[in-house]
Amino acid sequence: MSLIAQFQPHTFSTIPEDGSVCWQSPSNIALVKYWGKHGQQLPRNASISFTLRNCHTTTALHYQKKEGNDFQFEVFLDGKREEGFEPKILKFFERVEPYFPFLRKYMFQIETSNSFPHSSGIASSASGMSALALCLLSIERSLTPEMTEDFFNQKASFIARLGSGSASRSISGPLVVWGTHPKVEGSNDLFGIEYPYPVHHRFKNYQDTILLVDKGEKQVSSTLGHDLMNDHPYAQNRFAEANKNLEKLQPIFEGGILSEFIKIVESEALQLHAMMLASDPSFILMKPNTLEIIQRIRTFREETGSNACFTLDAGANVHLLYPEFEKERVQDFIENQLKSLCANGEFIHDAAGMGAFKIG
Ligand code: DP6
Repeated sequence: MSLIAQFQPHTFSTIPEDGSVCWQSPSNIALVKYWGKHGQQLPRNASISFTLRNCHTTTALHYQKKEGNDFQFEVFLDGKREEGFEPKILKFFERVEPYFPFLRKYMFQIETSNSFPHSSGIASSASGMSALALCLLSIERSLTPEMTEDFFNQKASFIARLGSGSASRSISGPLVVWGTHPKVEGSNDLFGIEYPYPVHHRFKNYQDTILLVDKGEKQVSSTLGHDLMNDHPYAQNRFAEANKNLEKLQPIFEGGILSEFIKIVESEALQLHAMMLASDPSFILMKPNTLEIIQRIRTFREETGSNACFTLDAGANVHLLYPEFEKERVQDFIENQLKSLCANGEFIHDAAGMGAFKIG
C-alpha cells in the first residue's frame, strides 16, 4: 500500500452522539530549516528539529452530532471566541476531510490556549495544528480500536502537516526528521519520524532559551515566505545545502561534537535569513537587537569556550541553544548580557521534550 493510501479512513456505520478529547502539543525549533514547499504541503528539503517542552498549545475538541452536510465549528482562544482563526481552520478541515469522513457530521467547539503569550512572536501554528490533528485522530481511534500507536502517530503527523508543515515535527521528540532524505531510513515527505540514529548524551535534554526580541505580528507569513522560494535564484543550492547539513549532523549527534553542531545550526539560521534577504520582494526580519544578541553569543563563546549557539525562525527572536551541563553559566550570561536586549526583558527557558500527550 502506498504511504498515503494507508491514511484513507475506514467507513464507520455508527458514530457516537457526542464527546470530547484534549491534547497538549508542543512547538519545535528547527536545526535544519524547512523553507520552500510544493504540492500539498510537501517540503523541498528534509528538516530536523528539537521538539520543545514548555512552549505548547492545549486544545480541547468537543463534538456533537448535527444535521446537514456543512462544516460547523467555533474556535475559542483562552475562553474567548476567536473568529480570526476560523478561516484557517476551515481551510484545514477542507484539506483533511478526505481522511476523516465524520468531519461534516459534527458541530465542533475548539477550545485552545497557548503556554506562551499570543503576541510573543512565537509561532503557534506548529503546536496548534498538531494539537488539533491529535484531537481528530483520537476521535478516529475511538472508532477504530485496532489502530496501532505507530499508525496513530504517523497519521497525526501527516494531518498536522496539512495544517502547517512544521507541525508534522511536533508529535514526538526529542529529535524529529521530516522530508525524504536518502541517508535517513524511513524519512519521507508525508510525516515526521523520530530521528532513528544514535544521539550522544551531550544532546540529551538540550536547552533552548527563546529571547523575545520583537513581539509584534509576523512581518512575513510562512505561506508567503515559502512561496518566495519558488522563483528564488538560490533555491536549488539552498535545498541541496539543507540536505547536506542534515547528513553532516549524523556523526555530530553520535559523537557529541558540539563545535561542529554549532557551525551547522548557526549556518542554517543565517541561510534561512539570507534567502529572505535575497528574495523578491526581500525581507529583513532581524532587528538591531537580533544582531547584537548574535554578536554577544559569539563573543561569549570565544571568551569562555561555551558551546551556546543561536538559531532563528522567520522572525527577529533568537533561540539560544546549549547543553544541559552549561545551564548555570549560560543562564547567568542571559541575565547579565542578553535580557536587556529583549522586549520588556522577556525570554522563555525551554528544553527538548518528548512530544505531545493526551490530557483528556
Ligand atoms: C522558518 O511550518 O510555519 O519555522 O507549512 O506554511 O505552515 P507552513 O509553514 P511553517 O514554516 C516554518 C518555517 C521555519 C523553519 C522550520 O520550522 O523548519
